[in-house]
Amino acid sequence: MKLSENAIKVLEKRYLIKDENGRLLEDADGMFHRVAKAVASADAPYVSAAELQVLENEFYDLMSNLEFLPNSPTLMNAGRPLGQLSACFVLPIEDTMEDIFETVKNAALIHKSGGGTGFSFSRLRPKGAAVNSTGGVASGPISFMKVFNAATEAVKQGGTRRGANMGILRVDHPDILDFITAKKDNADITNFNISVGLTEEFMKAVAENKDYDLIDPHQSRVVKQLNAREVFDTVVDMAWKNGEPGILFLDRLNKANATPALGEFESTNPCGEQPLLPYESCNLGSINLSLMTKLTDKGPVADFERIGAIVKKAVHFLDNVIDINKYPLPEIETTTKGTRKIGLGVMGWADMLYQLNIPYNSEQALALAERIMNFIQEQSRKASMELAERKGVFLHFDKSIYKKQGIEVRNATTTTIAPTGTLSIIAGVSSGIEPLFALSYIRNVMDNDELIETNPIFEQVSVRQGFYTKALMRMIAQKGTIQGLEEIPAAIQKTFVTAHDISPEWHVKMQATFQKYTDNAVSKTVNLCNKATKEDVKNVFTLAYETGCKGVTIYRDGSRDMQVLNIGKVN
Ligand code: CDP
Repeated sequence: MKLSENAIKVLEKRYLIKDENGRLLEDADGMFHRVAKAVASADAPYVSAAELQVLENEFYDLMSNLEFLPNSPTLMNAGRPLGQLSACFVLPIEDTMEDIFETVKNAALIHKSGGGTGFSFSRLRPKGAAVNSTGGVASGPISFMKVFNAATEAVKQGGTRRGANMGILRVDHPDILDFITAKKDNADITNFNISVGLTEEFMKAVAENKDYDLIDPHQSRVVKQLNAREVFDTVVDMAWKNGEPGILFLDRLNKANATPALGEFESTNPCGEQPLLPYESCNLGSINLSLMTKLTDKGPVADFERIGAIVKKAVHFLDNVIDINKYPLPEIETTTKGTRKIGLGVMGWADMLYQLNIPYNSEQALALAERIMNFIQEQSRKASMELAERKGVFLHFDKSIYKKQGIEVRNATTTTIAPTGTLSIIAGVSSGIEPLFALSYIRNVMDNDELIETNPIFEQVSVRQGFYTKALMRMIAQKGTIQGLEEIPAAIQKTFVTAHDISPEWHVKMQATFQKYTDNAVSKTVNLCNKATKEDVKNVFTLAYETGCKGVTIYRDGSRDMQVLNIGKVN
């Protein structure tokens, strides 16, 4: 198995089984066998023992070849007593004390098992509203968000990974301005990503420079009006300052709701790629595109045949996860099994483009993204139809949009583009559909020694073309880009672009292209350079809206003291 030192370190720290003294009881190979066996076992009622073994081997190969990996909780927990396998949950918060604290408890249980939770705080009455039972006044959504944040902090130590949350507030909630500025100094609410839920009505008011209504959800009445452009500009201001809040186009999410009769989307999971109904969960998995190329006499090309074969197995795998999953709450089990949503996506997209000599910021890259995601979408739907024939459609199929279309599927959704934060480290490839952040890093190792880590595809090309030197790689690590370096041929400079070489427009266009063929949503951060202006941020938001994205997150380099990724440094 071709796992990097880094990958092994990550696996040993969090994924592999240990005894109470911290000694490892399995290695990576053992983990893939454990997961394959557990996931294949869902087919036991349908096939013979010999066929089950074949399936288990197939699932094992899929993962150990690093062609496909399921989301972290599946790798961590499958075949183990905890058995919670999903990354994404959304929990409802109703406007009562009992319900708020019930949800705090439920979120803690989910975090303990490695899942992330999203909530809409939009149903809570605004700060200062009357509380009938006590005669007091309500403390409002932001203050309760801090309670959720503190609970997450406390669970952090004992859980399998750091708990992550998404907090959403509708733009027409009376406390919206407090919400937009809630993470101003970044010291508070550190376990949350926050996003403003924008409505079509609001976007129209922005375009027409009009006022719009703020509605108290408790009394369902208009309490105030604000100028839409001023609110939009405040969101832009704050996002420019430190990357938050993001924005989410709520009506657009709901337009793509496959089961509108079951309820509305009010929130997504923590990283924004998975809209879910209250109490719904979803398990994700990603195909490693960096392995999906083949050499022809015309040069390297995308290998659609191989992608198709992987999609089919991956859909089967993710559908099985729903059956063997141990759900943290009975409501979550019922809701999840009612729609059987899965989220198949990709990682290693930027690496694939490097291999094919296609610049990320080019029409050619968009065209290939379109072909690949369209293909994955079609093939995953087809695989879901085949599963439906064998195992039946999802429980609420009759209430879904597929019923009218006469498409009998087993899963209400099949595709999602996840960030693949840890999966991409395990597979040793670029994350999700993001461009690479840097081609070369300087890692400080013991005794103040330096280790230069270079992207393997770039290293190969630089050796082959004869411009590789350690000093050059070091310089690239410090500089963060190869653009304008005389030592490097122009054609190579054009292909090997990194996040900050790519203009924000191309980031958004890439997100929009993948979104076009994704049932759920797409995780993407539009990276801006430190010098980017508020106008640039506004343009990104507007373009994301115009090109059909379901939401967007930006990050301006250096705008937070603590940032996860730094040019020239790895944490
Ligand atoms: O790569 P991995 O499977 O670990 O996760 P990801 O693709 O980076 O994130 C997918 C989803 O997992 C996120 O949107 C969250 O719902 C959840 N997650 C979490 O709950 N806590 C984390 N520390 C990271 C991810």
